[in-house]
Amino acid sequence: MTAITSAGTGLYLDLLKKVVTNMIYEDPTNTAALLTDPTYVEESRASGEDYPTVAHTMIGLKRLDNLQKCLEDVLRDGVPGDFIETGVWRGGACIFARGLLKAHGVEDRTVWVADSFQGFPVTTEEDHEMDIDMDLHQYNEAVDLPTEMAQVQRNFERYGLLDDQVRFLPGWFKDTMPTAPVEKLAVMRLDGDSYGATMDVLTHLFPKLSPGGYVIIDDYCIPACRQAVHDFRDRHGITDEIHTIDRQGSYWRHGG
Ligand SMILES: C[S@@+](CC[C@H](N)C(=O)[O-])C[C@H]1O[C@@H](n2cnc3c(N)ncnc32)[C@H](O)[C@@H]1O
Repeated sequence: MTAITSAGTGLYLDLLKKVVTNMIYEDPTNTAALLTDPTYVEESRASGEDYPTVAHTMIGLKRLDNLQKCLEDVLRDGVPGDFIETGVWRGGACIFARGLLKAHGVEDRTVWVADSFQGFPVTTEEDHEMDIDMDLHQYNEAVDLPTEMAQVQRNFERYGLLDDQVRFLPGWFKDTMPTAPVEKLAVMRLDGDSYGATMDVLTHLFPKLSPGGYVIIDDYCIPACRQAVHDFRDRHGITDEIHTIDRQGSYWRHGG
């Protein structure tokens, strides 16, 4: 069992969440996509409802709190395995995960950072029912999505968190997931938005999730993503309760 509470750890993690969301300097939102007003709004940033121009994550404080809860639960309960995020953008959520492991003195778990590093692929048939009125591929430019792997690595470095407990899986999930050298997972965080990205990751990584581990679905609010989740769960008879994080994200505990 890992001891997980100390005032310094809590303060560091709270500050790290505020920095990766940039709730410190309050950068404006990107207005090229779905939003028209660039003004920073604290509640929007906390809920991950805007597209930060500078911040290293767009998932917001509430979903970072959820990530912290899931990671600290598996540490406390001794659930074996690594952390992976599939769909990392500028890397902020993974940077937070690496910081959390470091703050708790965890040296035997890896943070896997999986992304095309080229943004979204062209939208597929299954994604047509998505409730956004633009092709996902167009959305790339609109929210400054494609982030090169070197830039994400540089972001980790800025926090002093790029080391051999961070491993990158560059490429499309359909190509990287089947052969990913990941042995065991304790927390998997899916943030690829589409039906295909969600299904590719669940198909190849869920079998590696330890009992008591967590599946976090950042985009459960998107019909195509939710459909992939339910198709997968139905196919495998998974009935674990799905919990809501905020308007967008949900999660379940494997066998819990
Ligand atoms: C919404 S962003 C992720 C946000 C990120 N989790 C954060 O903390 O801000 C979605 C990411 O998924 C990646 N992506 C989407 N579909 C993908 C696919 N099929 N294969 C690989 N990467 C994909 C995009 O490049 C993008 O970086």
